[in-house]
Amino acid sequence: MEMEKKKSVPLPLLVMGCGGVGRQLLHHIVSCRSLHAKQGLQLRVVGVCDSQSLVVSADVFTMGLSDTSLMEICQKKLSGSPLMALNDFGECQIFRNSEATRKIVEIAALLGRSTGLVLVDCSASSDTVRVLNGVVDSGCCIVLANKKPLASGIEDYEKLVSHLRHIRYESTVGAGLPVITSLNRIIASGDPIHRIVGSLSGTLGYVMSELEDGKPFSQVVRAAKGLGYTEPDPRDDLGGMDVARKALILARLLGWRINLDSIKVDSLYPDAMGPNTMSVEDFLNNGLPSLDNGIEERVKVASSNGNVLRYVCMIEGSRCEVGLKELPKDSPLGRLRGSDNVLEIYSRCYQELPLVIQGAGAGNDTTAAGVLADIVDLQDLFH
Ligand SMILES: NC(=O)c1ccc[n+]([C@@H]2O[C@H](COP(=O)([O-])OP(=O)(O)OC[C@H]3O[C@@H](n4cnc5c(N)ncnc54)[C@H](OP(=O)(O)O)[C@@H]3O)[C@@H](O)[C@H]2O)c1
Ligand SMILES: *[C@@H]1O[C@H](CO)[C@@H](O)[C@H](O)[C@H]1NC(C)=O
Repeated sequence: MEMEKKKSVPLPLLVMGCGGVGRQLLHHIVSCRSLHAKQGLQLRVVGVCDSQSLVVSADVFTMGLSDTSLMEICQKKLSGSPLMALNDFGECQIFRNSEATRKIVEIAALLGRSTGLVLVDCSASSDTVRVLNGVVDSGCCIVLANKKPLASGIEDYEKLVSHLRHIRYESTVGAGLPVITSLNRIIASGDPIHRIVGSLSGTLGYVMSELEDGKPFSQVVRAAKGLGYTEPDPRDDLGGMDVARKALILARLLGWRINLDSIKVDSLYPDAMGPNTMSVEDFLNNGLPSLDNGIEERVKVASSNGNVLRYVCMIEGSRCEVGLKELPKDSPLGRLRGSDNVLEIYSRCYQELPLVIQGAGAGNDTTAAGVLADIVDLQDLFH
């Protein structure tokens, strides 16, 4: 028997950020066309922007950018040119700088009253919070891979999440892993969560597990950099701020009304080796090796206690902390090797043995897949 053909519902999207994740998202959208069509879903990308400009389809009410245009945009951005450099570019308009921001809010206001719109934040900027708030005000939806807007002041956060059904941000913690979804299900069922411990940095997970073999810290960090696991300046990982933003997002999800500055963050390097005093080269060659003995000592102490050292976020009681902790060797976090993310959740239902979520917690592909699943999850709001 032939399946009944479903009517296809258009879901208009505007994608902010066209870097590794944004481009991968556009690729996923194009390659999922027939899968989505079978589900009666049609993702219509009405606009794409980078840090300088916005490209929008000529008529956002009736059409999106064509797949050919989307792929051309990806290619341009991959080659390093700004969106602004797209000349002669089919049926579309280009807006620059502040005009781009104004245009996004205007499109959201127009589509908010008709079809609706999903604004997708794949940028790495804290400046998008204003436009996201404007879009939420218009009754539109937002999906984020970018943590920064959710890690800004509590007022902004509460405004963004005020329409629970209109926001998804699964990829901000653990990339494609179902972290936010799992926590939301536990919270919704009234099961109290007492403790969350997580290794939420692939880089630091790798570094800490390699240290168990007795390798010096400096050597392990350099190896991680060589494997492309770290940011160009490894101090961006070693400082712990990225983990702290993820911890803040989780704590706020649990209902904690706190800001980033109330999280205790242990950096793995001292202030005196910060980017303002030392170049990356100098840090790698001279700064890092001077930290080896101290870390080796801590690894040894942990081991003599039957523990291992992990760089984790820990949310428990009234504390939310990010830093080095000793954890039992024989625990999900203690067994971690390599760059996977691991999250242990303890609640009434998961009291002795935690609910454990583990897997790749970074990468353009899994992150963009998480964003796409978030978008598809909003489809019931579109008719
Ligand atoms: N990659 C991962 O594994 C991963 C995992 C989880 C979450 N995330 C998050 O996903 C986001 C994107 O990551 P990425 O690796 O794709 O970053 P990226 O390669 O640095 O790309 C960022 C993009 O955002 C654009 N942008 C910057 N400021 C903007 C603004 N104010 N408005 C609009 N666009 C702006 C940039 O424009 P230009 O091209 O003009 O510079 C660039 O296209 C980040 O927030 C990251 O933390 C990434
Ligand atoms: C993600 O995309 C960026 C930008 O194109 C690229 O430099 C990086 O290597 C990619 N990362 C992975 C893990 O594929």
